Amino acid sequence: MSTEQLLLSLKSFTKTSEISIRQASSTRELEELRHQIFGKQSALTDAAKVLKNADTEIRKIIGQELNKHKRMLEDLFSQTLREIRDQEFHTSLLNDQPDISLSPQIPSLGAIHPTTETIQRISSIFAHMGFQLFDGPEVEKSIINFDALNIPPFHPARSMQDTFYLNENTVLRTHTSNTQIRTMREKKPPLKILSPGRVFRSDSDATHAPMFHQIEGLVIDKRISFSHLIWTLKTFLSLFFNNSALRFRIRPSYFPFTQPSAEVDIAFEDGSFLEVLGCGMVHRSVLQETGIDPHLYQGFAFGLGVERLTMLKANITDLRPFFDANQNWISSFNQL
Ligand code: PHE
Repeated sequence: MSTEQLLLSLKSFTKTSEISIRQASSTRELEELRHQIFGKQSALTDAAKVLKNADTEIRKIIGQELNKHKRMLEDLFSQTLREIRDQEFHTSLLNDQPDISLSPQIPSLGAIHPTTETIQRISSIFAHMGFQLFDGPEVEKSIINFDALNIPPFHPARSMQDTFYLNENTVLRTHTSNTQIRTMREKKPPLKILSPGRVFRSDSDATHAPMFHQIEGLVIDKRISFSHLIWTLKTFLSLFFNNSALRFRIRPSYFPFTQPSAEVDIAFEDGSFLEVLGCGMVHRSVLQETGIDPHLYQGFAFGLGVERLTMLKANITDLRPFFDANQNWISSFNQL
């Protein structure tokens, strides 16, 4: 093909392409044109192929023409595409009348986990009583988890809490009491602290899990007595269960780090009692161990299981769903 012929066919191709683009009335039609005009088999591509083997002079002339035509067609194509898209969008809006009889599709929202909710609720009650929140490590030295709490290595109380040992001296904390020790060592009394967190015990059935949550409270000040402890727990329990006439009883018990120690049970309408927490006056060896003079200061401590209290409040008997991460269960719980 001569240069003139090539130029002529390029011109006529551009003309017909231009007309087809202008006549197109849908994006689908335009997409087809895109292949015909710019695709591998189009006259534009053919011309470019011929150019490869042509003389430098011819290549220059035709190359420039080719680019000019191509750019013109590309501009026209993208402008037309934009216009037709807009038109189609408007028509679809007009035709697409919403069907208001359809039930709305509500996106499924997450819900706060009951354990978190209980921790927040309890923390807020104690915050109003002036308690400060503290956090401690979950991997703990056994000296802090046990020894500092008056549980030496030979002590039978170590077997009360089935422990996960990471090595001879390191455990997964079996209770949040480690935070009490750490805070007592770091800060001077008076102290009024609350420490929520995860604890671990090698135990698993419908009412025991190897990981669960505890909240522990500690008050150290001058002239703190057992009656302060009773008042604090009574106030807390009636606020938590939303029942100012809540009946409860305090039973003597044993914990190595408190003396005297007690357990608190709450009463149900049928007259039965259920244990909700452990407590007591901080043992003088624990005070001494953390550098607090037991002649000057006394204190009380209490510890409760978060899942246990949640189960009581919501009347749930199985502990396992707490750890299943089942969105339906979590949401249904929130509707209680
Ligand atoms: N740390 C005890 C436990 O986990 C609970 C407790 C805390 C008891 C403070 C008395 C005082 O079993």
